[in-house]
Amino acid sequence: MKYFVTNIRKTMKMLIFSAMLIPRLLANLQCSDEASSVSRYHLTEKCHRSKLGIVAYANYTSLTSCQRLGLEKKGLAINFSPPEARKVGMEHSCEVMNCAETDGGLSLKNDTRYDYYTLYARPVPDKNSTCVPTIGMFRLLPQKLNYTEAVEQCRNISGVLADITTDQRTDSLGQLLAGSGNEAAFVGLRRSNGSVFKNSRGTTLDCITYRAWAPGHPRRNSTKFECVLISRQKTWLSSACSKRYPALCELNPGGPYKKGSIFTSEKRNGTMIDKKN
Ligand SMILES: *[C@@H]1O[C@H](CO)[C@@H](O)[C@H](O)[C@H]1NC(C)=O
Ligand SMILES: *[C@@H]1O[C@H](CO)[C@@H](O)[C@H](O)[C@H]1NC(C)=O
Ligand SMILES: *[C@@H]1O[C@H](CO)[C@@H](O)[C@H](O)[C@H]1NC(C)=O
Ligand SMILES: *[C@@H]1O[C@H](CO)[C@@H](O)[C@H](O)[C@H]1NC(C)=O
Ligand SMILES: *[C@@H]1O[C@H](CO)[C@@H](O)[C@H](O)[C@H]1NC(C)=O
Ligand SMILES: *[C@@H]1O[C@H](CO)[C@@H](O)[C@H](O)[C@H]1NC(C)=O
Ligand SMILES: *[C@@H]1O[C@H](CO)[C@@H](O)[C@H](O)[C@H]1NC(C)=O
Ligand SMILES: *[C@@H]1O[C@H](CO)[C@@H](O)[C@H](O)[C@H]1NC(C)=O
Repeated sequence: MKYFVTNIRKTMKMLIFSAMLIPRLLANLQCSDEASSVSRYHLTEKCHRSKLGIVAYANYTSLTSCQRLGLEKKGLAINFSPPEARKVGMEHSCEVMNCAETDGGLSLKNDTRYDYYTLYARPVPDKNSTCVPTIGMFRLLPQKLNYTEAVEQCRNISGVLADITTDQRTDSLGQLLAGSGNEAAFVGLRRSNGSVFKNSRGTTLDCITYRAWAPGHPRRNSTKFECVLISRQKTWLSSACSKRYPALCELNPGGPYKKGSIFTSEKRNGTMIDKKN
């Protein structure tokens, strides 16, 4: 009898536990990152090696292993040395970089041992883009735009208004803004009809614990202040979408590489001619 009672208790406990768990599971399902299309590295320059900051390296024979290491370390680009190109005394065949080359590829050096691959291959980020190491490539559009125009202008440079929903992002993007001499810029966080805020990927703020609202924000009239700015103080400000500010865009990773953006590729066995222009 005693056994039976404790069993009922156990069952009840389990039931209560499950009942508590289900809404959380449902919420997590709603929060799952539907737009998490897996990024991949695109071969951009054969016989070139990027000299941007290395965050990880290894000695792998397969490109797949190198790409996997790259994604794991949040690298934006990799140098990989295919087995046929290796030279004796080489320490590692795979190098993971925390930034990707921009148009012009000034940190890209000819080196017959390595091939350069990047997440940002089409279009190659232009010279005015800024890399935030391991986070992504960004571009501040300094002209004053309202929110709809800001969305369009970001799209026009193959980007979206920047996601600011982590502390690293708010911190580094606030710093980028401060460096540009601007006070505030539109970012990818907005609500409609007074509902919840969503970022450019459609994830609602309910799914994210991080907040960096400035004191008094988001402002109380939720139908009037539906758009969000990042400030140079690294805080979020709610604003009317019709106000005009610079826009902070985040470039979309993409490929395949369209030849001619960085350097024209050279033959591994051919004469090395740097056709830079
Ligand atoms: C890297 O790997 C290759 C073959 O997989 C091997 O020959 C070479 O010695 C390794 N290099 C180092 C530094 O371990
Ligand atoms: C980069 O910025 C400079 C100065 O703001 C501007 O003159 C130039 O047109 C920009 N380049 C591109 C490719 O947008
Ligand atoms: C998009 O950008 C190009 C330059 O890359 C520019 O010529 C064009 O006017 C822009 N379009 C809009 C709608 O701003
Ligand atoms: C906002 O509300 C209006 C009226 O209630 C509705 O017609 C409209 O579709 C809503 N917009 C959004 C984006 O939910
Ligand atoms: C909020 O702003 C809207 C649009 O500007 C306005 O119509 C409404 O009266 C405001 N509500 C409050 C409570 O101030
Ligand atoms: C932004 O300005 C354009 C005209 O330049 C206008 O059509 C659009 O409705 C404005 N958007 C907002 C959110 O005010
Ligand atoms: C160089 O590579 C090409 C193929 O890309 C091949 O046809 C040619 O024979 C090679 N030349 C030398 C000298 O190895
Ligand atoms: C790379 O190119 C430069 C000139 O463009 C040349 O001087 C240099 O020797 C080349 N480096 C290698 C490793 O081939």
